[in-house]
Amino acid sequence: MNILLIGSGGREHALAWAIANSPLTDTLFCSPGNAGIAHEAEIVTLDVDDTAAVISFCEANTIGLVVVGPEAPLVAGLADRLRDAGITAFGPGEAAARLEGSKGFTKDICAKYNIPTGAYGRFGNEADALAYLADHGTPIVVKADGLAAGKGVTVAMTMEQAETAVREIFAGRFGAAGAEVVIEEYLAGEEVSFFAICDGKTAAAFGSAQDHKCVGEGDTGPNTGGMGAYSPAPVMDEDMSRRTMDEIINPTLAAMAAEGCAFQGVLFAGLMITDQGPQLIEYNVRFGDPECQVLMMRLKDDIVTIMLAACSGTLDKVSVRWHDTTALTVVMAAEGYPGDVQKGSVITGLDGASNMDGVQIFHAGTKRDGDDIVANGGRVLNVTAQADSVSAAQKLAYAAVDTIDWPQGFCRRDIGWRAVKREQGTG
Ligand code: AMP
Ligand code: GLY
Repeated sequence: MNILLIGSGGREHALAWAIANSPLTDTLFCSPGNAGIAHEAEIVTLDVDDTAAVISFCEANTIGLVVVGPEAPLVAGLADRLRDAGITAFGPGEAAARLEGSKGFTKDICAKYNIPTGAYGRFGNEADALAYLADHGTPIVVKADGLAAGKGVTVAMTMEQAETAVREIFAGRFGAAGAEVVIEEYLAGEEVSFFAICDGKTAAAFGSAQDHKCVGEGDTGPNTGGMGAYSPAPVMDEDMSRRTMDEIINPTLAAMAAEGCAFQGVLFAGLMITDQGPQLIEYNVRFGDPECQVLMMRLKDDIVTIMLAACSGTLDKVSVRWHDTTALTVVMAAEGYPGDVQKGSVITGLDGASNMDGVQIFHAGTKRDGDDIVANGGRVLNVTAQADSVSAAQKLAYAAVDTIDWPQGFCRRDIGWRAVKREQGTG
């Protein structure tokens, strides 16, 4: 069948790579794509906000499956519009995508259905939010309710930080996404990303990963979209995965169905593994980036079969198996990221790196300029390696990084440190 993939990040390159390898795929189209995705897919330019244009493209090209990578079009209802037009789409509709689109909605679902998460309050004005802060003290976490490109969260260690965050949100720093503020209990523990593919009634566990959100080594400096990841996360052993499915994922799926907005697509739970067990920090309604890159490296079964089963409500009939390996990805970003970056610097050495055994380079912000591949964004490359241990995958990934010549780029040199320490028995 012909498949259309929406998106342009490292996540979408990994998805494109997996989808292009499926025996079910005839032609894969991707919009807007990047220079790496162009190897796996035919690049097309569609305006995702113009749903009529997306639908006519699908009809003209007999698209049998649309895969929506990022959250914004899902939260805006693209999957609903496609399904209304009779087109199969992988991803939740607008009502179910509120799990990512509104942090307050998710907290209310957790409260109503007894899903473990920190205590919280929702506020539509500054005075009430500040009063709640005064009552609860620090550490505490202040969040803009809506989509804020990962920048709407302040983990406040002091009252001043917390109050400033509240004031900035109500002053309009995140526009409409900050019309409401959620303030929640600070959870201490180890953070992990857990994934489940859902068909509305059945959830299939889809692996775990650990991201590295801070820009600097030793988890220092400002937050980013993610500087690297590995999978599986050692802290998610069989028992913890089962508890997460039983206590968080399955109850959420049942809750969403009971609320009349059954969830189909990828449910990405940001978890804190606390002394009491897994607690939900937040939901996303799409794959993580860069978590998706390491999941796709390890997936043994066919991603298209799994996605189609999610779309048709038959997930209980398919298997999800993994290579018994660790995958680790190192993000190479343009100097200045997560602040302003310069575009257009030339990257060489990519072929040598991707020809190494067990290595895949997934592109994010790249574009082709004549014969050159040039940087075209903040996060630019995901150098991804697969091996028998985290230490070996880390070594291989950095060996590949070192064959890439891009003076204007940088990466963290410690991706996987926590798991490497565990393997060495010093963690
Ligand atoms: P979010 O965008 O909700 O994932 O939040 C960004 C980051 O803030 C998370 O990845 C956590 O590291 C941190 N965070 C969010 N909520 C909490 C919480 N309740 N307790 C501790 N850390 C949190
Ligand atoms: N890597 C975290 C995210 O995709 O939200």
